[in-house]
Amino acid sequence: MCGIVGYVGSKSACDVLLGGLKRLEYRGYDSAGIAVVESGQLGILKDKGKVRDLEQTVYATWDETFRRRVGLGIAHTRWATHGSPTAANAHPHTDQSGRLAMVHNGIIENYAALKQQLAAKGHRFLSQTDSEVLIHLIGEFYQGNLCEAVCAALKHVEGTYGIAVVSADAPEAIVVARKGSPLVIGLGENETIVASDVSAIIAHTRQVIYLDDDDVAIITRAGAEVRNAHNVPVSRAVANVDWDAGAAEKGGYEHFMLKEIFEQPDALQNSLRGRLDPAMGTAILSGLALSPRELAGIRRIVIVGCGTSLHAGMVGKYYFEELAGMPTEVEQAAEYRYRNPIIQPEDMVVAISQSGETADTLAAVREAKQKGALVVGLCNVVGSTIARETGRGIYLHAGPEIGVASTKAFTCQLAVLLMMALKLGRCRRLSRQTGIEIGDEIRTIPDLVKRVLAGNDEIVRVAQQYATARDFFFLGRGCMYPVAMEGALKLKEISYIHAEGYHAAELKHGPIALLDDQVPVLAMLNDIAGRDKMVSNVQECRARHAPTIGVVTEGDTDVVQNVDEIIRIPRCSHLTAPIPTAVALQLFSYHVARIRNCPIDQPRNLAKSVTVE
Ligand code: G6P
Repeated sequence: MCGIVGYVGSKSACDVLLGGLKRLEYRGYDSAGIAVVESGQLGILKDKGKVRDLEQTVYATWDETFRRRVGLGIAHTRWATHGSPTAANAHPHTDQSGRLAMVHNGIIENYAALKQQLAAKGHRFLSQTDSEVLIHLIGEFYQGNLCEAVCAALKHVEGTYGIAVVSADAPEAIVVARKGSPLVIGLGENETIVASDVSAIIAHTRQVIYLDDDDVAIITRAGAEVRNAHNVPVSRAVANVDWDAGAAEKGGYEHFMLKEIFEQPDALQNSLRGRLDPAMGTAILSGLALSPRELAGIRRIVIVGCGTSLHAGMVGKYYFEELAGMPTEVEQAAEYRYRNPIIQPEDMVVAISQSGETADTLAAVREAKQKGALVVGLCNVVGSTIARETGRGIYLHAGPEIGVASTKAFTCQLAVLLMMALKLGRCRRLSRQTGIEIGDEIRTIPDLVKRVLAGNDEIVRVAQQYATARDFFFLGRGCMYPVAMEGALKLKEISYIHAEGYHAAELKHGPIALLDDQVPVLAMLNDIAGRDKMVSNVQECRARHAPTIGVVTEGDTDVVQNVDEIIRIPRCSHLTAPIPTAVALQLFSYHVARIRNCPIDQPRNLAKSVTVE
C-alpha cells in the first residue's frame, strides 16, 4: 500500500527520496510524488504512474545544482482509496497557504465532516482525497510551530495515519506522526530518514526507532525527538535491523517472487535453526515465553489472519488438532474483530501476519487482548506492530519478502505452526519418542523443498500447457485443502486467471456444473490419507472432460494414469507434505504468469501490506 519516505541530511534529498520510493515499489501503488524545501520555498512534483516517471520529471524540472543543494524533503507512493489515481490526488498535498506539504498513509474517516467545516472557513480543495483535508486542518492550526499544529489537528481526526509534514518556513525539520499506519525512523551520520517500511532505510542506516501509535516526532539531521499526542517528550528504544540491503535485492533473478521461491530451503532452515530439541523430542520456542505448565493449561486455539496467512492458519488447525489434541478455530481477522467473539480465559489467540501490519489482523489482536486472551504473534517483520503489541510470539526469520504474492513467508509459517503444535503436543499427550520422530520429519523440510525446486523445468512444461486457461480449479482434502486454496490464490494474484480452491468433496455440490474441456483441475493427489477419495473426485472431473493435473508423490505410479499431467513432490509425511506441495504450486503459478507476461512482483490492484480495512 502507500509508501512514505522523508529525508533530512547532508546528501541530496532528491536522490535519497527517489531511491527510497523505489525500495517501496513492491508494496503496490499507482501514483508517486515528492516535496522538497529549499530557500524558503516548497517544490512539489507528483503524478499518477511509476517512480521512474517521477524520477524523469525531477531530473527534467530541477537542475543538478538544485538537486544537490536540497537537503530535506518528503515523498510518497499512493495506492488509491479516496479518489482515482490522478496528479491532483497524488501526494504530497498542501494546505491553504501552500506553505505546508504532507504525505499520508491510512484513511481519515471523518474527512467529509472536516472538509465541510474547513470549506465554510474558505478553504479550497484541489483533490478528492481525505489526506488533503488533514493538511488543511494542520494549516488551520499553524502559527509558526509545526509540531504544535500537527498535534492540535490530530486531536480532531478519526481514522488511521502515518504522516510526514514539512513547512517552507522550517528547512531543517520534518514532523511525523502515526496511528495505525507504520513509521520507522532511521538514524544515520548527520542524516535522518523516515519511512513507512524499513526497506527504504537500510541502504543508509540499520539503527532505527519504530514509532508507536499516537507518537509524534520532530526529525532533524541530528536525530529524532519523539513526543506523545500531547506534545510531551517520550523515549523510544533504538533497534538494530539485522538484514542488509542485499537481502532485498533480486540477486540475478528475474523477479523477487522467483528469488523468494528459490530462497525457501534457506529461509526454512533459518526458521528451524535452534528450535528443535532432539533429546526431548520437542521444539524450543523461547519467544512464546510460556512454561510447559502454562502451555498445558491452554484449552482452545483461535487463529486469525488474512490472505495467505489465513491459509497457513487453516493448515495449522490440522497440526494443533492432531498433535496437541487442541480444539482450534481459524478466522478471517476482519470477521473476528467485528463479531464480538467469545474468548475464554484458557484460550490462546494466534495472529499470523508476514508484515505484522495488516489492519484487520492488528485489530483482531487488540480485540483479543481487550477480552483478556493470551495473544501470540507469528510475524516475519521484526519490530512490526503486531509483533510488538502481542509482546510474545515466534518470528518466522524468512528474511525480507518483497514479492506481493507471499511465498517463503507461507512455508515458514507452516514450519513454525508445526513446531508450535509439536511443542503443545509434548506438553499434553505426545510421547517423547513420537516427538523425536516428528522433529526428524520437520528437519527434512528444507531438503524436501530443494527437491521440488530441482523439478522446476518439469513444472515449466506443465505451465506451458495451461497458461491460456481462463478458469482453474484447485482441489484438496484434509490439510491439502488449504494448500489448494493457497495455490488458487497464487494463480489469481499474479496471472489474473480466475482460480478457485475447493474441497474436493464439495465440488459436486455446485462448482462441478462449471467443468468442461476448457476448465483445468489441479488436484492434490499426494500419497497420504484421503488420496483414494481424491482419485475418485478427479475421475468425476475427467468424466466432464476437464483437463487434470495431479500433484503426486514420487514413486506413486498407481495414481499417474488418472491425470493428464503430473507435478511430482518427494515422498514425505502428511505433516510436512503441505510445504513441498505449496512450493510446487508457487512455481506453477509463477511460470503461468511469466508466460502470460504479467507484472509478477507488482500485480494490479494488490498491495503487499494491507494497512486499511
Ligand atoms: C496482502 C498480501 C497477501 C498477504 C495478506 C496478509 O493481501 O498481498 O500476500 O497474504 O495481505 O498479509 P500479512 O502481512 O498479514 O501476512
